[in-house]
Amino acid sequence: MRPLLLPILLLSACAGVPGRDVPTDPHSYANPAQVRVRHLVLDLDVSFERRVLSGTAELRVERLDPRAQQLVLDTRDLNVFAVEAAAGPGAWTQAPFSLGPADAVLGSALYVGLPPGADRVRIRYATRPQASGLQWLDPAQTAGRQKPFLFSQSEAIHARSWIPLQDTPQVRLTYEARIRTPDGLRAVMAAEHGPVHGREFSFAMRQPIPSYLVALAVGELSFRRIGPRTGVYAEPVAVAAAAHEFEDAEKMLAICESRFGPYRWGRYDLLILPPSFPYGGMENPRLTFATPLVVVGDKSLVALVAHELAHSWSGNLVTNATWRDFWLNEGTTTYLTYRIMDAVYGQSRGDMERVNAWNDLQEALGLAERPGDRALAVDASGRNPDDVLTTIQYVRGERFLTFLEQKFGRDAFDAFLHSWFDEHAFQSHTTEDFLAFLDARLLRVHPGLVTHEQVEQWVYSSEMPSTAPVPHAEAFDEVDRQRARWLAGTGAAQIPAAQWGVHEWRRFLDLLPEQVPAARLGELDRQFHLTDTRNSLIARSWLKLAIRHRYRAADAAVERYLVGVGRVRLIKPLYRELLRVPGGRARAEAIFARARSGYHPIAQAAIERLLKEGAGGAD
Ligand code: BES
Ligand code: ZN
Repeated sequence: MRPLLLPILLLSACAGVPGRDVPTDPHSYANPAQVRVRHLVLDLDVSFERRVLSGTAELRVERLDPRAQQLVLDTRDLNVFAVEAAAGPGAWTQAPFSLGPADAVLGSALYVGLPPGADRVRIRYATRPQASGLQWLDPAQTAGRQKPFLFSQSEAIHARSWIPLQDTPQVRLTYEARIRTPDGLRAVMAAEHGPVHGREFSFAMRQPIPSYLVALAVGELSFRRIGPRTGVYAEPVAVAAAAHEFEDAEKMLAICESRFGPYRWGRYDLLILPPSFPYGGMENPRLTFATPLVVVGDKSLVALVAHELAHSWSGNLVTNATWRDFWLNEGTTTYLTYRIMDAVYGQSRGDMERVNAWNDLQEALGLAERPGDRALAVDASGRNPDDVLTTIQYVRGERFLTFLEQKFGRDAFDAFLHSWFDEHAFQSHTTEDFLAFLDARLLRVHPGLVTHEQVEQWVYSSEMPSTAPVPHAEAFDEVDRQRARWLAGTGAAQIPAAQWGVHEWRRFLDLLPEQVPAARLGELDRQFHLTDTRNSLIARSWLKLAIRHRYRAADAAVERYLVGVGRVRLIKPLYRELLRVPGGRARAEAIFARARSGYHPIAQAAIERLLKEGAGGAD
């Protein structure tokens, strides 16, 4: 393979696209300002024996700079066997290529020499078993325990570990895919499902999406309809419960459409994954990927569906230009989430969620690694985005939008968001693009309500603005009274918690003081069986307390939870709590040694970092 000399060309990658100033992305080697990938054709075989995807990725590119002689792609841990190029319908010819040095965060650049006129590049490659964006599961890690399972997680910068592409949210592409699976397994992608030929599944994504939304899963999957355009994919034993839990998805879609514009993706389905999925949910277009832990039976955790579905507007339609602008995706989505919860389940449900999130925000602000991480726009360059993106961008972003809503009024603010989505549909935007639009459409139109200084403080300051609206939930006044009574010595039997759900329990438990005798926890446990709760969020709050106050009766439950659950937001706080108590580090390390091989690479990295670097990191 002939090495190409590229650093000089790379420097010029910083130039903007004519007519629009595109910021560079510090998390990508790609050169979209010169040559931009527009369409992807994936053709892959799935091997569970080797834990490898192998085949070809064809990239259709547009040369924005007619002099460009090179296409730069992102990869991580890929084996690249051959690269070919072609012009229009012409024949494929070998193209020179080289892989740059591997960076721990960014992976390796793939430099491809483009012959004159070439507008197609085909890469023959294979993934490696340790691909950071894939998890290969043994049958024992699934609900059915019979068949293996594979799923991808591309956000933030893991798409490059299973597809060579321009892995930056500034580049949008359409794609088609053919995926061949072993017998008895079904492939699904976050795309339109095409015909199945034998073991070959085909897909098409016709709307241009950023690379972090390309998604694939393979397993023993069945489908159940929810409504005319909604449904659930899950393992056969799990599909009925999931369809019931998420039966309000259709209503949620309708609410979003009525306020913020049409749903532009055709279908909205959910895919229930095994419990090692490192997130609660991932907003892959047309097919949200979700943890099975939200299927509780009482719809208590369906804010997750509202959230991922809201990303169909904030994130998937209008996308953060770089990971610094992540709050535009998640803050806006969190705002929409609670609006949906208000509308479907009543204002008091939305308010409870807001108040608990506000408490999570206070905790996250205290845990931020750097003061700048407390702002909305975060400096993620030189860092792994997975280490920088926290609850702060979600909840502080949500509070910022709520602040604006309260200042300008709900109707004006909804109209503003509606036009933000409409006028920027299928584009990627920066924080500053949003602020300019806010200025033009709200601040100038309604002068005197919000100052530029206030906006800048919200977005750039590491201090929370003094103007932040503090949410209040009336239902929690009673919970707070009960907590105070119990702390003053009344028995647990006196707490009228029969109607309490996850929100009330989180409120009760999360606000207990630093010191509570273990015996009193035992009393609560005997009354309400908290150690045995099947609600993963109640369990997180409870087990955290159990660790802190050395309530030994929950030891086995702590271990079971940390081994059985892979969602980072659920397990990391428990590991963090273990690190805080005497003797806890050894216990944390012993549990991690047992749990590690069942965790997704993203969760492995998060917990490894926590154990190595102490209690840093807010998520
Ligand atoms: N897009 C995120 C998940 C994500 C964030 C993946 C950062 C990679 C990097 C998703 O929409 C999300 O926010 N999930 C939450 C759901 C919750 C807020 C309801 C989660 O998984 O906790
Ligand atoms: Zn989200």
